[in-house]
Order: sequence, then structure tokens, then C-alpha cells
Amino acid sequence: MAILKIARMGHPVLRQRAETVADPTAPEMQRLIDDMIETMGDADGLGLAAPQVHVARRLVVFHRPGAAGEEDDDMPLVVLFNPEIEPLGEETSFGWEGCLSVPGMRGLVPRRERVLYRGLDREGRTLETEAGGMHARVVQHECDHLDGILFPMRMTDLSMLYFESELKHYRGAEPAEDEAPARAEAMA
Ligand code: NI
Repeated sequence: MAILKIARMGHPVLRQRAETVADPTAPEMQRLIDDMIETMGDADGLGLAAPQVHVARRLVVFHRPGAAGEEDDDMPLVVLFNPEIEPLGEETSFGWEGCLSVPGMRGLVPRRERVLYRGLDREGRTLETEAGGMHARVVQHECDHLDGILFPMRMTDLSMLYFESELKHYRGAEPAEDEAPARAEAMA
């Protein structure tokens, strides 16, 4: 396994549409999965998409937060090739996001509250899951990377794009309901 270099906003690989993977079980894909998992762990991230490690293929890995959005060391790891997302219902919600490719920044981003996602796991089997809350947010964030979209491009109010180190000023000025981003939420 290896820790891979993470592309940052401005690199062309983050702007393009990634290619479908024909065979998730191919040895080079298995190696890529393992390297992405190691890279994500090293960077203390909640999720990682292949374009973030300079590979323009449709593959994401992420930790699945619990139903209540809680984070702990036992979050299941999801490996997903060629994902498709279908919104469930009309509800959207705002939450703080960060990205390993946009280091040091946080933004308040609207996402669908509930989605159905499907794709292939690392054995090439079909995976289909309903997700809500933080789980749904992480999936949408990661899959956006496959279409060249970074979280600031989803924001509706760029005055809510912050340097992480300045968030304390926001927290001091606003009610507690918009809490500061949790660690994992901040890096995907
Ligand atoms: Ni990201």
C-alpha cells in the first residue's frame, strides 16, 4: 500500500468527468482501493474520490456515519464504483463541509437530505443503499468529485465560505444550531 498525493483545487483532474470502471476486481483497481483507504486514513478524511489522487475513474471510498450522524472509530467503510444517486423526496439541508482538495476551508453547503445510491463494491457486486443526513451528505460530496464538482461550486451563499481558522469568529457571533464542523465532516 502507499500514501498517494492529493490533488488540490485548480488541478485539471478535479474538473473533468471521471471514466466508468469496467472491472472493479482488476488488480490495479484493488491496489487503488487499498491506496485510497490508506491515503484517506493518513489525511484523517471521512471520504476520498479517485480524482483526488489524480486518477480520473469513477471510484469513491468513504466511512459511513451512523444514523444519527455520529462518528466513531467503527464506522463501516464503503467502496463504491460507478455510483449513481437518486434523490428521495424534496428536502434539502445545509451543513458544513470541507474537502481534502480544498485544504483549510469550510463552507455551508445545501444537499439532499435523503438519497438512494447504487454502484458496485470491490468484488463487483451491486450495492444499493438508502442514506440520510450526514451519510447522504458524504455520498453526494464524494460523487460530485467524479463529475468535476467541488463543494464551493454547490454553495448558494459564498459569504459562508470560511477559512477553518476563522470559524471561531462565526461561532461566537451566531446561535449554536450551526455548530462548527465535526472532524470527519470537515474532510471528504
Ligand atoms: Ni472532497
